[in-house]
Amino acid sequence: MPVAEKRTTLQEYVTSEWQDKPQTSGLGAVIMAIAEGSCRVQALVQQAALADVLGVTGETNIQGEIVERLDTASSDIFVETLSQSGHVAAIGCEEIEKPVIVEGEVADGFIVLMDPLDGSSNIDVAVSIGSIFGIWRKRPDETVNDDSLLRPGNEQVAAAYVVYGSSTILVLATKNNVCGFTLDVGSGKFSVTHPNIKIPADCLYYSTNEGNNKVLDEPTRKAITLLRNKYSQRYVGSLVADFHRNLLKGGIFAYPADQNRKDGRLRLMYEANPLGFVVEQAGGAASTGFQRILDIIPKQLHQRTPLILGNKDVVEETVSVISAG
Ligand code: AHG
Ligand code: MN
Ligand code: MN
Repeated sequence: MPVAEKRTTLQEYVTSEWQDKPQTSGLGAVIMAIAEGSCRVQALVQQAALADVLGVTGETNIQGEIVERLDTASSDIFVETLSQSGHVAAIGCEEIEKPVIVEGEVADGFIVLMDPLDGSSNIDVAVSIGSIFGIWRKRPDETVNDDSLLRPGNEQVAAAYVVYGSSTILVLATKNNVCGFTLDVGSGKFSVTHPNIKIPADCLYYSTNEGNNKVLDEPTRKAITLLRNKYSQRYVGSLVADFHRNLLKGGIFAYPADQNRKDGRLRLMYEANPLGFVVEQAGGAASTGFQRILDIIPKQLHQRTPLILGNKDVVEETVSVISAG
């Protein structure tokens, strides 16, 4: 039996890579809080019905969407671990209407925007789901308030997502560096398994909800037709799972605006911005179809946006057709 090579753990990674750099001290604690929370969420995901976390709570969230038990449970877990990290000043969450302003003075505070459980429609049918995080550094000497969270994606210092799939993978992006870690469920530790992720030059897949074609405008329908004629269709219905496959294998994800959703379906602050940051650091691109995602000046915490992200050249081609009008 070959001796398993010693892999670098996430704790060792953030300590060795970041601890001594002033621009990231404290960020390691935020990442470890995300890792701790995702271990706890992963356990609930695997237990599912046995842990009584399937099904709906009977409430609807600020988005007007039915809230699944696991949406609430994962939101509570991450709010707890992030608040206790000692380096998070405020949290914005898909499942919480108003920002959570963390008590107590936080010196080098970070602001975290999160989708604690992405792919809710897949929870009850045992299909891959995930969690998504965007991380901004609060402005020096700023006393954070609700408006402190409305920062453009191009001011993020890091972003991360977790896929709870056949394995549990945490992907962490900082400037020019995207690294993937796999969870060893036994020890509860993440270790480096996908160093220096770059989106492949060749695009293999396109991911879009083809059921929406009838409500697309003509230029967008033409753009989707071009993708359909060139690439294989893969669509899980969990953004984070579709994105992860396209990041590793080469692909494009598109949830454009349509007649029913003029502003798109996905949320800018905790879906499009974090994954837009990840894909750009991995050499890809993220657009609304008319504008770079990370340049959008946000107006509301839960605002939606059209989202097209993946291989840079394919995103640019798709955008040129959509915006040609
Ligand atoms: P969430 O579960 O956080 O609300 O996100 C669900 C999103 C995203 O994960 C996925 O890409 C999209 O909903 C699927 O939407 P459709 O079911 O309309 O295709
Ligand atoms: Mn989501
Ligand atoms: Mn969600």
